[in-house]
Amino acid sequence: MAQPIKRIGVLTGGGDCPGLNAVIRAVVKDAIFHGIEVMGIEDGFLGLIRNRIRKLDWDDVSNILTQGGTILGSSNKANAKRFYVGKDENGEPRFEDVTDRCMEHYKEHKLDALVVIGGDGTMSAAAEFVERGVNCIGVPKTIDNDLVGTDLTFGFQTAVQIATDALDRVHTTAASHHRAMVVEVMGRNAGWIALHAGVASGSDVILVPEIEFDIDRVCKVCEDRGRKGKRFTIVCCSEGAKPKGGKQVIERTDPTSPDPIRYGGISKLVADEIEKQTGIESRYVVLGHVQRGGTPVAADRILATIFGDHAMELLKNGKFNRLVAWQDGGLTDVPLMESAGRQRTIPEGHHLIAAAKSVGTDFGA
Ligand code: F6P
Repeated sequence: MAQPIKRIGVLTGGGDCPGLNAVIRAVVKDAIFHGIEVMGIEDGFLGLIRNRIRKLDWDDVSNILTQGGTILGSSNKANAKRFYVGKDENGEPRFEDVTDRCMEHYKEHKLDALVVIGGDGTMSAAAEFVERGVNCIGVPKTIDNDLVGTDLTFGFQTAVQIATDALDRVHTTAASHHRAMVVEVMGRNAGWIALHAGVASGSDVILVPEIEFDIDRVCKVCEDRGRKGKRFTIVCCSEGAKPKGGKQVIERTDPTSPDPIRYGGISKLVADEIEKQTGIESRYVVLGHVQRGGTPVAADRILATIFGDHAMELLKNGKFNRLVAWQDGGLTDVPLMESAGRQRTIPEGHHLIAAAKSVGTDFGA
């Protein structure tokens, strides 16, 4: 029989996304109802490294359900096993394993378990602690919806709504000015946001990293539409989309981050090429972090609350090292280690790609 849990730590790691506060609220309120103390760890695993840990009470989580971001702060650079500590004499980044220090802080605060709210990078960081015997529960967060083991992460539906609204808005300018408008959405190597927002907005072309696109074909779509009297084209483009025979466009690399690549800029290339090849005036819009900000849509508030509640159920029942998950339309959980450091991309033949094609959407291939 597992020892009852008396005190837990909760942290939010990786890029922020709408719904983080809703999970924190669900965890803390349920814990208080069951006499469990919650310590908030600030800025993801950085708080465990630097011992920035504080008690969370009812008042701390009251009125945060609808707030975007995270009251705990986050970091996408704090992997204890490979923690950036400055540059060496050659100017190269230097990393240290600071897991022992984290374990001291974990013990100092008398924590019995950690609720780790994050994406694949955060789950990889958590995996180190699982191996050290720490009881962890993962809660899947990311606007990218690319965590292995779950069909849905909270934050995704809000990002899709924001991207859809943006696509709807550029539609009017595209139609009025007879232009091609290319809207770049986030998602790293996964095209989930582009696929969903592209379908929801009725985009004419959707470009995703999973399907290499032929720019000549995209240009032909614009021209063909013109011939049919549609003198504008909307292209929904993933930041990680890749032209045939070409490369993904990297905006910057951050060597201090465990996931150093930041995509950005493909929409400019696509828009410029459409204008060059077809003579159709073209513009691009990079939505960027707008997709991660602000209040979560109702569906994400609900999902985050369900996820937080399930995390607490697992903890109270001594079922550790699990990732809360949504599969086949229902709540479940999977081994946390399975999702660590892996990305879930759109599988070949996905039903939404088929549905998009059936209404005439082109994928540039
Ligand atoms: O993983 C979430 C995400 O927003 C990606 O879609 C995007 O590529 C990346 O994070 C941006 O990271 P940063 O906030 O470090 O610029």
